[in-house]
Amino acid sequence: MTQIVEVPLAGREYQVRIGQGLLARAGAEIAPLLHRPRVAIVSDENVAAKHLDTLTTALAAEGIASVALTLPAGESTKSWPHFTRTVEWLLENKIERRDVVIALGGGVIGDLVGFAAAVLRRGVRFVQIPTSLLAQVDSSVGGKTGINAPQGKNLIGAFHQPALVLADIDMLATLTPRDFLAGYGEVVKYGLLGDAAFFDWLEENGPKAAAGDAEARTYAVKRSVEMKAEIVLRDETEQGDRALLNLGHTFCHALEAATGYSDRLLHGEGVAIGCALAFELSARLGLCAQEDPSRLREHLATMGMKRDLRDIPGDLPSAEVLLDLMGQDKKVIDGQLRFILARGIGDSFVTSEVPRDKVLSLLQEQRAAC
Ligand code: GLY
Repeated sequence: MTQIVEVPLAGREYQVRIGQGLLARAGAEIAPLLHRPRVAIVSDENVAAKHLDTLTTALAAEGIASVALTLPAGESTKSWPHFTRTVEWLLENKIERRDVVIALGGGVIGDLVGFAAAVLRRGVRFVQIPTSLLAQVDSSVGGKTGINAPQGKNLIGAFHQPALVLADIDMLATLTPRDFLAGYGEVVKYGLLGDAAFFDWLEENGPKAAAGDAEARTYAVKRSVEMKAEIVLRDETEQGDRALLNLGHTFCHALEAATGYSDRLLHGEGVAIGCALAFELSARLGLCAQEDPSRLREHLATMGMKRDLRDIPGDLPSAEVLLDLMGQDKKVIDGQLRFILARGIGDSFVTSEVPRDKVLSLLQEQRAAC
């Protein structure tokens, strides 16, 4: 059965529909949004090969004509050249102000197409059909859209909420185990940041979800999206609480920069390691019990996930360089590093008051163990 999470932002409310078979029913799901039976779809080469036919057939079954643009797969697509190409293609295809654009893909496509929709004719509606677990539980919900700049990731963009999100659990079956587990890093994050009972549930059911159990996958996505929606409602433009969603990300961004945003470390893998480090740091600062980081690391180990710097293949820079990279995180305010720390599992908070030497010694120990 399809689960629905409402995102009731005033004047821009939308639903996240989660369940099986949604892609094959996409025409019926999307039809009520349309003023005329015609949509534009943007996807990437990998996703289009697997899912585009199903989507266009589902649309055609409801009498909806579609045009499709297929971009190269990968992070480098989130750039000005592909953004320009997308916007111009939408204009060439006469997408009007009242039309709908569909983003069929993972986080890269969702972010780029959302940004294109935000600026096209000063804003057209778009539907997210996220195909990765990471996109289903994080990037497709909440309206952060954008592209990367040579100066850093996600530095150009806009808040533009989707009109609908269709998270089809069946599409997760086409992911590699590594990609699934990388997305699972973001799922664990939700339990850690605000729902201890969800973390308990993940300890029990995470392995089932990884093995393909549709019910467990549906619940994991639904609870994650509910939590994200609650936070976005409180703080859409990240003036405060939304920063909680960055638990593990200050460490993660430094590790991604240190590994050149390459296949050595996927974003969600960095988030899992970053969460483990954030909890270790919290325990060392006397904020949470030492059992909390141990429990988290044990769960990541059970899931077969990376949890320490030594799990990242290849050489890493020194602890000092990693700390400097953390200082380049875009969440730095007035030169102060902001961390999400925890008083316990399910109880995180944002702080700028973290002694530099404590972070450095943690990184030094982790580096020494590599
Ligand atoms: N991915 C973090 C956020 O949406 O705020």
